[in-house]
Amino acid sequence: MKFFVDTADTAAIRELNDLGMVDGVTTNPSLILKSGRDILEVTKEICDMVSGPVSAEVVATEAKQMIEEGNKLAKIAPNIAIKVPLTWDGLTACKAFASEGHMVNVTLCFSAAQALIAAKAGATFISPFIGRLDDINLDGMQLIEDIRVIYDNYDFKTEILAASIRSVNHITDAARIGADVITAPPNVIKAMASHPLTDKGLAQFLKDWDATGQKIV
Ligand code: G3P
Repeated sequence: MKFFVDTADTAAIRELNDLGMVDGVTTNPSLILKSGRDILEVTKEICDMVSGPVSAEVVATEAKQMIEEGNKLAKIAPNIAIKVPLTWDGLTACKAFASEGHMVNVTLCFSAAQALIAAKAGATFISPFIGRLDDINLDGMQLIEDIRVIYDNYDFKTEILAASIRSVNHITDAARIGADVITAPPNVIKAMASHPLTDKGLAQFLKDWDATGQKIV
């Protein structure tokens, strides 16, 4: 499973990237706002740091303007994945970008039908938003499962990029189902290393070690 980091915070990306944990990065307009940085400048910095796909999102709503914006974003670096929303115009732009050989991440996917039509439009990645479905008492993980079955039935090459990940359980459930990629905030990825029994066990080991009076170095 590939790990993408869902942030435009370059310090957080660098910390995980130095550990070899970053296979790619996803950004969106809200994350650019949070970073307080210029989109072109911060995206370039991320692309220079990370060798995998870096998603940068268009903000136009009509295909023609989306294509203009996407072409500008694609010039930032060869590892840009142009991100478009799952609308009819977004799919039109997706097809155009894919035909030009660009990677495309189709975002804001909330149904299996949307995922199927995005694959038909040549999406490199489909981004189903798990957390936002859970927020309205629907089952985000069921959507990942449905898309997996559909893509496997017809051997679609579009990668399932589980997004809107809010918890460690989201990541392990998506991995069990067979999502190709997760994108998660840095704090959720770091939380994967934590377990209360690890903390408890370590405290006991350290207490017992003190009692031996020994030193290793
Ligand atoms: O990758 C999509 C993500 O940024 C949205 O997450 O938590 O705002 O639903 P969230």
